[in-house]
Amino acid sequence: MSIAVCPGSFDPITLGHLDVITRAAALFDEVVVGVAINTGKSPLLDGPTRVRVAQEAVADLPNVRVERVPGLLVDFCRDIGATALVKGLRNGADYDGELPMALMNRHLTGVETVFLPADRSVIHIASSLVKDVARHGGQIDDLVPPGAADAVRDALGRLEATEQGEGR
Ligand code: PNS
Repeated sequence: MSIAVCPGSFDPITLGHLDVITRAAALFDEVVVGVAINTGKSPLLDGPTRVRVAQEAVADLPNVRVERVPGLLVDFCRDIGATALVKGLRNGADYDGELPMALMNRHLTGVETVFLPADRSVIHIASSLVKDVARHGGQIDDLVPPGAADAVRDALGRLEATEQGEGR
């Protein structure tokens, strides 16, 4: 039984992530979408929301499930018996960011990382851009799975209300 983890912040999950997850599901017996903590980012969506939205997005994929990664990704992989990580690459900047993590993860436990080239149809999609477009009132419904767009708009609405309350 081959198990792979598709890790990420998923803040929110996008159609780009979904493309990689779907293709990983054709390569491995089981795929676990690992919703992890990136200490370099402060997420818009809370952990349970990111997990819920990702679960809704992969509901049609029979060999894919979503789990929270509580700490080190390599510990999570060991706990669930995963031997590979799968990540999508859109461009050279992605590669530059992903390579040190792939090498560190392999150094720590030997877990391998498989890179899949992003499909051209979703190469422009990034969670950070999705949030920026939404923050300025733009349309994000064709960039993310259905539940994700609503979750982003809700979170931005709450953030705006808080900032107004604080007189910012
Ligand atoms: O979607 P992202 O933010 O690019 O994903 C990065 C993520 C969350 C996969 C990475 O930060 C991570 O693995 N976090 C879990 C903690 C960990 O294992 N850190 C060491 C990474 S070498």
